[in-house]
Amino acid sequence: MLSRREFLAAAAAAVPIGYWGRGRVAPQPFLWGTSSSAYQIEGAARADGKGRSVWDAFVERPNAIAGGATGAVTCDFYHQYPHDIGLMRELGCNAFRFSVAWTRVLPDGTGAVNQPGLDFYRRLVDGLLRAGIEPVLTLFHWDTPLALHQRGGWQSRQMANWFGDYAAVVARALGDRVRWWLTINEPRSFIGGGYVAGVQAPGLRLSRHDALAAAHHVLLAHGRAVQTVRAEAGRAVRMGIPNDCTPVLPVEGASAEAARSATFATPLENFTARGWWNENAWWHDPVYHATYPAQALAALGSDAPAIAAGDMRQIAQPLDFIAANVYAGRTLDGRWPAGTARTAFGWPVTPEALYWAPRWLHDRYRLPVFVTENGCSEPDGVAADGKVHDPARQTFIGDYVAALRRAIADGTPVLGYLYWSLLDNFEWQAGFTQRFGLVYVDFATGRRVVKDSGRRFAAIQ
Ligand code: GCO
Repeated sequence: MLSRREFLAAAAAAVPIGYWGRGRVAPQPFLWGTSSSAYQIEGAARADGKGRSVWDAFVERPNAIAGGATGAVTCDFYHQYPHDIGLMRELGCNAFRFSVAWTRVLPDGTGAVNQPGLDFYRRLVDGLLRAGIEPVLTLFHWDTPLALHQRGGWQSRQMANWFGDYAAVVARALGDRVRWWLTINEPRSFIGGGYVAGVQAPGLRLSRHDALAAAHHVLLAHGRAVQTVRAEAGRAVRMGIPNDCTPVLPVEGASAEAARSATFATPLENFTARGWWNENAWWHDPVYHATYPAQALAALGSDAPAIAAGDMRQIAQPLDFIAANVYAGRTLDGRWPAGTARTAFGWPVTPEALYWAPRWLHDRYRLPVFVTENGCSEPDGVAADGKVHDPARQTFIGDYVAALRRAIADGTPVLGYLYWSLLDNFEWQAGFTQRFGLVYVDFATGRRVVKDSGRRFAAIQ
């Protein structure tokens, strides 16, 4: 079994020089670290001029969040980040993915810049760089400015321009020190959860027509941000969009070809008013192929998004990698056998997902893959010895990373692996009931305890 150092070196060497984004640059060290988002870890919800997001409002709804939890304080990363950067070093990380809270930078989403908010991100990035940790910046991780939501939000085409302008502000401030940029986290999840199912902010249950229109505006905003970041960063940057990918796996009698085909199929029976948003290709093909899946688009009839001239070209701005959030695979018939290992969330533990998803994404879209999220929640607690013993998470990480290694050995170019997440944090409508972190957080006191898995992460074998 390769040591971590050998694994990282092999992974970096496995990416032919021509794959390094839009230019021919020397391979980078394999990015090895953790992933997070602003609303889930920062706290300081109203500090230093920050404006309200749809999540600040949504958590005030009775019974919206398990246990009545909110992100008002959560991990208090906003104040504890210097200590947490020390933990990243302790865990052997060379990369850290975080998101910028749009309303810290532009409290109302547009207009005057809130300098203290921007300065926080400058301090965070400079602290990471001083620690030898590569910042991986996500521009948007679901915390839409409430003021823009009230002006139409993602249901308005104008949002693409508002988002592009916001991205330009961040790029001008941080483009000289951040090389890795992600635009919009999991369009599928936040549209599905917040605009179809209504279980996440802003809690809408739109018609299929209106939700598909909002989804189209999200993809337009992605393209607009790619244009403005590349124009304003003042240096070559590497850009992607972290879509989640749930691969169909060649198990239970399914061939690899049948599983691969099903992974990107958009069966019309799935395009129901509530189910359409689950299809991988609906979110990936426009970004990498400048087209929606034709058969599904045709079948949508009057529900199809209004596609103006130039829209698909804007959405399909050239990218440097496929950012993939991969947690689990599924079977052809959608059922896992009894006895399949599951996480605390009930998600099936399927390490092969991190072999097949990177491989099939690369085969289809011909860019290197960057695993920007993978992780598991477990019922962690501090034992009598003061430690947090989490064998299931150690097995999860070991098995998923072994599968990723095999994908790399079989020729899939992979740029990095970011575990979700450094810290236990606010898990959206599940509140604090799902602990994903390599580091345990006592939310009553803010105390951190590195879990056994965090120790293992530093010495992956
Ligand atoms: C997502 C989000 C994260 C989640 C993580 C665990 O993929 O849903 O990017 O914000 O917290 O995936 O569910």
